[in-house]
Amino acid sequence: MNSLALINEFLGQPPNASSHGYQIDHILEFCHWFMGALFIGWSTFFIFVLIRFRKRRQPAADYHGVRGPISTHLEFSVVLIEAVLLLGFAIPLWAKRVNQFPPGNEALLVHVVAQQFSFNYHLPGPDGQFGRRDVSFVSNSNPLGLDPSDPAGKDDIVTTGELHVPVNRPVIAELSSKDVIHDYFVPAMRIAGDAIPGSLIPIWFTPLKTGTYEVICAQLCGLGHYGMKGTLVVDTPQDYEAWLKERAELAGGAQPASSPGAPLQPQPQNKPPQPAGKPEQQPAQPAQSPGQL
Ligand code: CUA
Repeated sequence: MNSLALINEFLGQPPNASSHGYQIDHILEFCHWFMGALFIGWSTFFIFVLIRFRKRRQPAADYHGVRGPISTHLEFSVVLIEAVLLLGFAIPLWAKRVNQFPPGNEALLVHVVAQQFSFNYHLPGPDGQFGRRDVSFVSNSNPLGLDPSDPAGKDDIVTTGELHVPVNRPVIAELSSKDVIHDYFVPAMRIAGDAIPGSLIPIWFTPLKTGTYEVICAQLCGLGHYGMKGTLVVDTPQDYEAWLKERAELAGGAQPASSPGAPLQPQPQNKPPQPAGKPEQQPAQPAQSPGQL
C-alpha cells in the first residue's frame, strides 16, 4: 500500500484480496486523484471567473471571449489523459479479464445460481462432474433443480449463502439466475458480474489471502435485495478439503433420491434457509416420486 492508495481507503474500499485486484486499485487510485485535481482546478477557475467578470468590473459583455491558447491546451491535456486511461489501462485490463480465463483443469469451477433472495452454489463433488439441472425439478429441498436420475449429480454439492474456495487457486464462477437480474459482487476480490436469467456469465478471480469476505447483490432485485448478503470463505487447501468433505456428507443425505421411485426423505437440517419475504411453501411431499416428474 502506498500513499496513493489512501484515497481508496478513504472512500471505503475494503483491502484487496485477489491477484488482479491491485491493477484495478491502481486505476481507481489514479482516477480518483485525477478527478480530485480536476475538481479543484475547475472549482478554482469557476470562482476566479465569478470574481473577475463580475458586473461591477465588467459592465459590458465581451463577445469574443478567451483569445489565448491556454484553455485549448488545458482541455487537450485533460482529453489526452482520459484517453490514455481508457485506451492504455482500462480497456486492456478489461480485455484480459474477459479473454484470458485460466485453463479449466487449473481452476475451480462453481455455478452461482441467483434467486430472490439468495445466492446458491453448485459444486461438482468428488466425481468432478456437474449433474444435469432442469427447472422442472426445482423445489424447496432442491433449489437448483438437480435431475435425480442423473448419476453425475448424485455427489454434487449445493450450498446457499456461503461458499468456500481454496487460496491461490483461480476460481471461475458461472453466473445465472432463476428469476430476475441479480449481480454477484465480491468487493474484496474486485469482481462483479450480472446474473441474468437465460444467460451463463463466467467471471474469475484468484484469492490471495485466507479469510471471510462479504458477498453482496449489486442489482436492486426486489424487496429482499439487502438480504442477499452472503460470505465467501477463502480457506487453506486443508481447510477447503475438510469443508468439501463435510458438504459432501451432508449432500449424501440431501439428494432428492438415491434410487428412482424411492420416497423423498425430508431433511430439514439440510434445507437452505428460507429467505424472508418469500412465501413459505409446503415442504416437499414424501410421496413425490422423481420418476413421475
Ligand atoms: Cu439480488 Cu439484489
